Amino acid sequence: NLKAVILVGGPQKGTRFRPLSLDLPKPLFPIAGFPLVHHHIEACCRLKEVTEILLIGFFQPNDALRRFIQRERQEFGKSIIYLQEYTMLGTAGCIYHFRDVITNGSPDAFFLMFSDAFCDFPLQEMIQFKEKFMPYLIMTVEVPKEQSLHYGCAGINLTTSEVVHYTEKPDTFVSCDINAGIYLLNIDIFENIGVLFQNKHRPSLSDTSMEEVMLHVSHQNVYKPESTMGRISLESEVLPRLAGSGKLFAFRMDRFWLNIKSAGSALYANQAILELYKSSHPERLSDLPGCKGNVYIHPTAEVDDSAVLGPNVTVGAGVVIGQGARVKNSMILDGALVKAHSCILNSIIGWHCVVGEWTRVEGTPTEIDPNAPHATTDNFYLFDEQGRLRPSITILGRDVTIPAEVVIRNSIIMPSKELGRGFKNQILL
Ligand code: GDD
Ligand code: GTP
Repeated sequence: NLKAVILVGGPQKGTRFRPLSLDLPKPLFPIAGFPLVHHHIEACCRLKEVTEILLIGFFQPNDALRRFIQRERQEFGKSIIYLQEYTMLGTAGCIYHFRDVITNGSPDAFFLMFSDAFCDFPLQEMIQFKEKFMPYLIMTVEVPKEQSLHYGCAGINLTTSEVVHYTEKPDTFVSCDINAGIYLLNIDIFENIGVLFQNKHRPSLSDTSMEEVMLHVSHQNVYKPESTMGRISLESEVLPRLAGSGKLFAFRMDRFWLNIKSAGSALYANQAILELYKSSHPERLSDLPGCKGNVYIHPTAEVDDSAVLGPNVTVGAGVVIGQGARVKNSMILDGALVKAHSCILNSIIGWHCVVGEWTRVEGTPTEIDPNAPHATTDNFYLFDEQGRLRPSITILGRDVTIPAEVVIRNSIIMPSKELGRGFKNQILL
């Protein structure tokens, strides 16, 4: 009997995902036709051992989120619950806060997944790999040296698989084996987090002057605001202590893995999920004569017979694609209109956008180094250190209108803009 906990974060996060995260929480952003976390939930539901799935975040449960949870419950027939934190408690703080819900029903262990970590979720393999003497299992992947610094790095004993050393986002090189954001943890992990929690909540008299203690009594909030007190990071505070204690082990996964932080990485996730559909949901891939490679078209979309789509294209609900249009390596979100003879390459076209006839919308996919083995996406900020815009995919926010016969290249257009001409390498606010 297992549970799964998926951390979905909250509204302060996902800034690199703008403008697409302005309209809905990043975990609900559709990739390959379905909300991002739907893919995590589906992977968990495939396992008969998993009895309940808990999503933890600090988004207000708005209509979109409620409807989503409702639909997932109906589709999978399992208990799926959204738990809202009152503030950002950190990756260990938030599971500790809801430990009663997680341990309810006495599961032996639980999966912990980050909603922005994506792969083919080898959860069954992790269950098989985890042995009695492995209380805590963390999935790791190998990345090139330069990329490893952006992640948690694990020193692994390759004979025993034990994690002997762990540093979160080190300044200098530690290891190419990085934390992939997917764990299988025994329930007693809460004892380890509990110790940290107690330490944070008990101000020690030795390093606190009497004056401060008095202040604490009279103005509790001033002394130590409640908001930072419960905040505990699994990666920075818990894992480094567990490493080398004989309890933390690594499941080294050697297939693709992505960390979805920027909109650019969403295009890679789209490509990866469409590829997975070949074995998991072949019926979702279009066999229209105008489709080359992997293409998902929502049943309510209308695509003209003379349009050519693919590879790696997702077409959302209610989208209309006109005569002679060409779409490659792109996502066209619900309700968009792509008029005749337009060409869309390496771009995300937001909800209800209109792209005029003979117009070209093009971006540059720059995020995976084809020459580096094991390379994953680089989740760059839009600007480099010199403040220059990096060449990126083109993103049209919701309700953008692009006129006929223009070129939009490597640009990010904020929602509801009505453009009068073409643009290159710009962010239009
Ligand atoms: N509910 C909740 N509350 N979720 C949170 C909180 C919190 O306080 N803090 C983070 N999360 C969620 C985020 O939404 C995201 O899904 C995940 O936890 C990761 O959080 P980040 O804080 O953004 O960490 P990161 O992605 O930079 O690094 C982590 O993940 C990498 C792999 O994806 C670390 O674990 C790295 O070591 C790891 O390599
Ligand atoms: P690779 O296959 O990746 O080498 O690129 P490519 O030579 O196919 O060119 P590119 O990626 O730029 O274009 C992708 C597809 O879009 C090709 O099938 C082109 O024929 C088509 N395409 C490019 N520009 C236009 C255009 O302006 N209009 C239309 N309708 N199609 C275009």
